[in-house]
Amino acid sequence: MESLSTPTGCITSSLPEEKWWESDEPVYQFNGFWFRLSYLRGVQQVLEHFKPLATDVILASFPKTGTTWLKSLLYSIINRSSKESLISNHPHELVPSLELQLYKKPQVDTSTTEIVPSTGTRVFSTHIPYQLFTDHSIRSSECKIVYITRNPKDTLNSFWHFVSKSGRETWPLEVAVDKFCDGIVPFGPYYDHVLGYRKESLERPQKVLFVTYEKLQTDTKTSVKKLGEFLGCPFDKEQEVEDIVKSCSIATLKKHEVNKSSDFTRWIELPYNSFFRQGGLGDHKNYMSAQMIKRIDAITLEKFHESGFVYGI
Ligand code: A3P
Repeated sequence: MESLSTPTGCITSSLPEEKWWESDEPVYQFNGFWFRLSYLRGVQQVLEHFKPLATDVILASFPKTGTTWLKSLLYSIINRSSKESLISNHPHELVPSLELQLYKKPQVDTSTTEIVPSTGTRVFSTHIPYQLFTDHSIRSSECKIVYITRNPKDTLNSFWHFVSKSGRETWPLEVAVDKFCDGIVPFGPYYDHVLGYRKESLERPQKVLFVTYEKLQTDTKTSVKKLGEFLGCPFDKEQEVEDIVKSCSIATLKKHEVNKSSDFTRWIELPYNSFFRQGGLGDHKNYMSAQMIKRIDAITLEKFHESGFVYGI
């Protein structure tokens, strides 16, 4: 595994570099995956310093696959008595990202990462691909991982809308499709990201739960119950499940002032409200041409279906 540390401290000088859109910030390839420079330091710090506790829950995802939704669900399932927290806190504040929030700074603020809440369970999120973790981190820990994935076309469509919220140059959809198909997007390639966590979920189902955005949409109640069981906190009242489903729905979350805010977050140069757009299935059809869809489907067929994962078309 390639290390990011260099004697000069210039972590990117030896890494392949590519533009993923016309912004001034390229992405750098590190151990087969692409990262923006502003996140690379955080990724490095997590890989080198994060020591999970056996009681930790890690929400892992590729960007735009339903991270925010799953954050609200995991938080609510684990902290049953504090559902009101979602009214005044953005889900990303309740479940912080390891590399984008907690370990982003040059000096890691261990006071934040060492606090164990009264429930005994710390919940963190990460977009770091499973392949990058060494045997001394989340791989060997008894911690639990919940991975969420989403149809590649809806993921890219959501990513494309999200980037356009940054207010910088536009990212033409044609370019976005090109880059996505070449795997050159932050935390990409998408397909390798998904397959890394999927493999682990098949080999160690008690450790990694693999969830799809589509299943969560079409049967939220069953998915919430399954999450509760996996996390060792099953539900005994149907009403509790229904309450969580409702309080974590995009319609409910969108109504809270904190989630409506157009203020920019401290950890990513985008407004709080950009994490809640439409939240449905198949919106890519409203933007992508038949040719774009065909191109992505061909890659999905090759990468997913031919490896036995029939998903995403
Ligand atoms: P769309 O852009 O397709 O609407 P992430 O949280 O990983 O950044 O993913 C963002 C996507 O999840 C966006 O998809 C967003 O609208 C959707 N989303 C956010 N909160 C949701 C919720 N509570 N229920 C369903 N989808 C949600």
